[in-house]
Formats: sequence, structure tokens, C-alpha cells
Amino acid sequence: MILLNKLKNFQIFGTFLIFLFALEESDERYIEGLNVNLGEALQFLREYDREATAMCNRVTMAQWQFVTNITDNYRRKMLDEQTLKAKFDRASWRKAVSFAWSRIPDPLARRQLKMLATRGRNSLTDDKFNEIYHLIAEMKELYTRTRLCPYKENDHQCNLVLDPDINKIMAQSKDYKELSYYWRAWHEAVGPPLKNKYMRYVRLANQAARLNGFADAGDQMREDYEDDSFQQNIAEVISAVTPLYKHLFTYTRHKLIDRYGDVIRKDGPLPAHILGNMWAQNWQGIYDIVQPFPAAKKLDVTLDMMLQGISPLRMFQIAEEFFTSMGMIPMPPEFWRMSMFEKPTNREVKCTASAWDFCNRIDFRIKQCTRVNMEDLFSTHHEMAHLQYYLQYRDQPLLFRNEALPGFHEAVSDAIGLSIMTPQHLHRIGLYNNSTDDYESNINFLIMIALEKITYMPFAYIVDQWRWRVFSDGDADMTTRWWELRLQYQGIVPPVTRSESHFDPASKYHVPADIPYVKYFVGIVLQFQLFESLCDVAGHVGALHTCDFYRSREAGRLLSDVLSVGSSRNWKDTIREMTRGRTDRLDAGAMLRYFEPLAQWLRRQNQMEPVIGWITSQEDTALFAHWYKSKSTCLKPTSIALLLILNALYWIT
Ligand SMILES: *[C@@H]1O[C@H](CO)[C@@H](O)[C@H](O)[C@H]1NC(C)=O
Ligand SMILES: *[C@@H]1O[C@H](CO)[C@@H](O)[C@H](O)[C@H]1NC(C)=O
Ligand SMILES: *[C@@H]1O[C@H](CO)[C@@H](O)[C@H](O)[C@H]1NC(C)=O
Ligand SMILES: [Zn+2]
Repeated sequence: MILLNKLKNFQIFGTFLIFLFALEESDERYIEGLNVNLGEALQFLREYDREATAMCNRVTMAQWQFVTNITDNYRRKMLDEQTLKAKFDRASWRKAVSFAWSRIPDPLARRQLKMLATRGRNSLTDDKFNEIYHLIAEMKELYTRTRLCPYKENDHQCNLVLDPDINKIMAQSKDYKELSYYWRAWHEAVGPPLKNKYMRYVRLANQAARLNGFADAGDQMREDYEDDSFQQNIAEVISAVTPLYKHLFTYTRHKLIDRYGDVIRKDGPLPAHILGNMWAQNWQGIYDIVQPFPAAKKLDVTLDMMLQGISPLRMFQIAEEFFTSMGMIPMPPEFWRMSMFEKPTNREVKCTASAWDFCNRIDFRIKQCTRVNMEDLFSTHHEMAHLQYYLQYRDQPLLFRNEALPGFHEAVSDAIGLSIMTPQHLHRIGLYNNSTDDYESNINFLIMIALEKITYMPFAYIVDQWRWRVFSDGDADMTTRWWELRLQYQGIVPPVTRSESHFDPASKYHVPADIPYVKYFVGIVLQFQLFESLCDVAGHVGALHTCDFYRSREAGRLLSDVLSVGSSRNWKDTIREMTRGRTDRLDAGAMLRYFEPLAQWLRRQNQMEPVIGWITSQEDTALFAHWYKSKSTCLKPTSIALLLILNALYWIT
């Protein structure tokens, strides 16, 4: 969200905080007031629902108008609406915390009040509230305005943007020096100017969280998961996935040594810049280097789509039929009338595919500059799965028209994706008549998916581990701590020496933009749990990665049940229902079963390797750990030594 200078005019809560401290706290954790009148609480929630719905509709409409017709006029209108919404949210928070909401007997009312009372930074004074929102807007602006000069000196146009220019080079170039240039140029253009602003942001976010009853801003972010053992749960998941990650890593290292030679140690970590992605979070860019069986057929139905003359509109009809074949909700008429299916020629638009809920139970749209190819066929299903989720929970009150827990929207769309991208499914919809089910194609397929999802796990895990530690332990050695985590979980090191002034964590948008990250980790884990559950009820037999629940009414019924509750109850109940009682936690089991054929194959490939995973040497840690120079000395050597020992132990056991 972007906010305008207008926020400076907020004068509503000048003296409110003083009043707040006088309020009683019935739960030592949360801030709440004295009002226990159920009738008044219900009345407030009814009014809130009505006003917030109208507000949500107007903001969403203004955003839609802007992104589908980029003009200064629409940008201004959008920012105005967002400012009004921020003001409304601030007033609603104040009303919500005047109730002793934890003692309101009606559980659904209590849950809604809690959502209003524990979110946002509305506990700050006007000055500080304005300051943090301007700070975040400024950091986002600095990040998105960054441009790089090209690698080749003879070209003096310094206007390369991260997306798509630099991302594309990172994925496609195989030139070690060129990649190193872009990696370094990006990190050093973005990080240093953001460091001081980020430190101020940390202080303000912590203040807001403490005034709202939390230990720090990380504690407040984790509140969304309503689970005291959440940290332990995700730590267990990453441990369970690490052996598979290390096998994939080891096999990839072998292939990279074949390619780049002895700049890479046979038992060492990998340099961050040659994995096909700026953050080494998705390695699909190096599929051509690591693909196990180059001769086996590659899954691609683009040609079939062309030959059959499939149009973008037809792609949306195919996606809709996937859901109706399972007995789920068809797209409403407004969807077909109001969506943007193709890139318009008469105006500028933002092309990122997205799914829209206009908060009025009627209007739902997709915006996508659809091209006729396999990638966009998958994307069409992905976005429509988001819409299906909106449709399923549309009868809930506004506050419950939301995913069961952060990350679940993506998990649902991606679980559908796992079904429709199987050769089996593409064959059933008449697009892949020449499909072959040989072993080599299967391994190619699985490694392709693993390069996207398994390699992402450690990165998706560490971003918030780092952020939460900064919130709880302070802003000393932020860059060193970032690289400690990168090395410990991802097994990567920077291609060139780092210092604290580089502030490398800011190279990832979500850090300066104040967007929580662990939801992406949760999303990957849950997509496999959901996928396996749907395959189970659909009666799938055989390897999990070949499952397609198309046309399964049973799967459709289970999915509808899971989606239609929205966020009206604790997500653990939803996971228990989804897995039909098997678990109510995040569990890596389904993911590991999905990749089991690949894991077996990798274990065989890696038999001759000296080390599965990596051994960390002094030379690696010297790239970023400068404890011998720094003033805060004592802790660093131990934590690095511990890191060395842990990695070595892992390898021995
Ligand atoms: C886009 O915006 C311009 C300028 O405001 C307006 O004239 C035009 O009708 C808009 N086009 C669409 C399709 O909304
Ligand atoms: C399918 O296979 C047939 C026979 O091998 C070939 O003629 C045809 O071009 C293939 N179709 C596609 C879309 O690859
Ligand atoms: C594939 O087979 C289906 C039915 O068997 C047919 O309708 C479709 O046209 C075929 N597609 C291609 C590309 O040959
Ligand atoms: Zn999505």
C-alpha cells in the first residue's frame, strides 16, 4: 500500500494513547478496553462490515482502474482512496480496542474483534504512524527506481530494471563474470542507501508492536499464525526437507563444476550468482545445465495449442471447466464481462497476472496479458483458482473473506497447478496426445519442479528468520547475520566480499517493502499436503506426482468445504479437515512423498560424491564475517564455529 502526504493531516488520535495505558488488560498479552457489552460489540461489527465493504470496493475499483489504464489521474485517485482507507482502518482499530474483546462470549464476534485489534500499526501516535508509512513508501520507491548499467562498456544506457531485464539475464546468462557483475551491481545499488532508513523502520515497527501488546514486531507478524509452536513447526519442516535439498544441491554442484571448473570447491558451498536467480531462490534458470536426460521429451503443449487455434478466451474456458468438472462454482457473468484477458493496444497497463475480489460478492475479475502458450495456460488456472477461493468464501463476513492462514491462497492455486501440469491431465484435455510415460521423462519433470520448489524452501525460510532476529535482537551485524543464514540453510556464499554497509538483505523487495515472507514457505508445504489430500479422496493410485483430480466430485467437495470457511476459524481445524484427521500441522511428508522417485535417483547419482551438502571453511565465512575487525566481537567466532560443526555433523550422520 502506498500512502500520500495527506496522512500528515490525521489529527484524530492525539491524546488517545494516554487513555489507552489506563485501560485494563485481561490477557497480559493483548491491548483491550473495558466494554463487555455484547450488543454493542455486535452492532459495531455490523457497521464495520458494511462500511469496510464499501471502502474495500472503492479502493479495489480504484486500483483496478489504475493498473488497467495507467495515467496520473488514476494514480492520484487510487492514492486518495488508499489514504481514506488508512484513516478508516485507524478509526476502526480504536473502536475495536475499546471492547474487552477477549471476554466477548460470541466466538465469531470475538474472532473478528481480535483481528481488528491486533493488526496494523495504529497504536502509534499520528506523527510516528505517518513517519513509518512514508518510510516504507520511500524504501519501496528507492528499490523500484533502481536502474543498472549494462555489463558491456560500450553501451552507455544505464536503464536496466530488475524485472524483467536483470532477472532475465540472471536466469539465462552462463557467463560467470557477467553474472557476478550484475549480482554485485544490484546488491550495491540497492542495499547501502536503504540501510539507515531500514534501521529507523525497525525501531518504529517495534514501538507499534509493543504499544499493541507484543514483544516486538516479529512477534506481531507471527500472531497471524495463531500458534505458539509455529516457529518450532516450521523449524521441523525445514529439517525434514534439508536432506533432499542437500542431495539436489550436491548433484547441481557437480554439474556446475563441469560447467565452470574449479572456481567451485568439490565439497564447498556454491557462489550465489550462478544458480539462475538473483537470490538463488529458484534454480529453474539452470535447468539446461542440470537436466538429467537431455534426450527425453520435454513437456510442452504450446505447439498443440497453436495447432488447435486456442484463443486466450478459450484458455479461460478450459480453466473454468476444470473447476466445474469437480462440481465447483462456475465463473459469474461479471467475470466474463469485466475481466482483462488480453493486453490492450490503446493504453498502458500492468501485465502481472492477478485475481481480483471487489468485495461485493458479485464482481470478480482476472487481469492477465494472456499469450497462447503452456506457461500462460498454467497461469490462467492459477489465477482462476484464486477466484474460486473468493467465490467459495464470499458469503462470510468481510473479515473472514480471507485465506485460512497466510500462504494458503497460493497453496490452493499451486495444488491445482500440480494437477493440471501433469502429462496425464494435458492428455485428458486433448493437448498432449503424444505423451510418453517413461522413467527419464518423469525424472526430468520432477527435477524441473524441484528446481522451483525444493530450492525455494531454505530461502523462503530464512528471510523472516533474519527479520525476526533483527526485530528481537537489534540491528547490529545485519548483513553478517543474513549470510550466516544463507550459508547455513542454502549453502551459498557471496561471490565477492561483503561488509555491513552493503546491507544485502535489502536486495529482496519484501524486506524494505515490509511484506512478511514466511507465508511463501507455508504455501509450499501446504500445497503438497492439500494436493495429496485431494488425490487421496479422488482415489488416485500410483506415484503421487502423476495424480490429476480433474473430474473428481469427491475432490471438489473436499476442496469446497476447506475453502468456504475462509478465515472464520483457526487454520488448524481447516488442516485437520483437509487431511481428514491425519494432522493439524504443517508437515513435509506429502512433499517428500511427491519427490521420492527423484530422491532415489539423486542418491544414486551422488554415490561418488565426497560430501552430501557442504563443508564450510574459513575462506567462505571470511567473505562476510568480519568479527576480527568489528567492535561487537565476542559472539561471532562461536556462532561461526557452531555453524562449521553443525554442517560437519550433518555430513557424518
Ligand atoms: C483510460 O484513461 C483515459 C484517460 O483518463 C480515458 O480517456 C480512457 O477512456 C480510459 N480507457 C479505458 C478503456 O478505460
Ligand atoms: C505427435 O506424433 C506424431 C507421430 O509421431 C507427429 O507426426 C506429430 O507431429 C506429433 N504432434 C505433436 C504436437 O508433437
Ligand atoms: C488429441 O486427441 C483428441 C481426441 O483423441 C483430439 O480431439 C485432438 O484433436 C487431438 N489433438 C491433437 C493435437 O492431435
Ligand atoms: Zn497466486
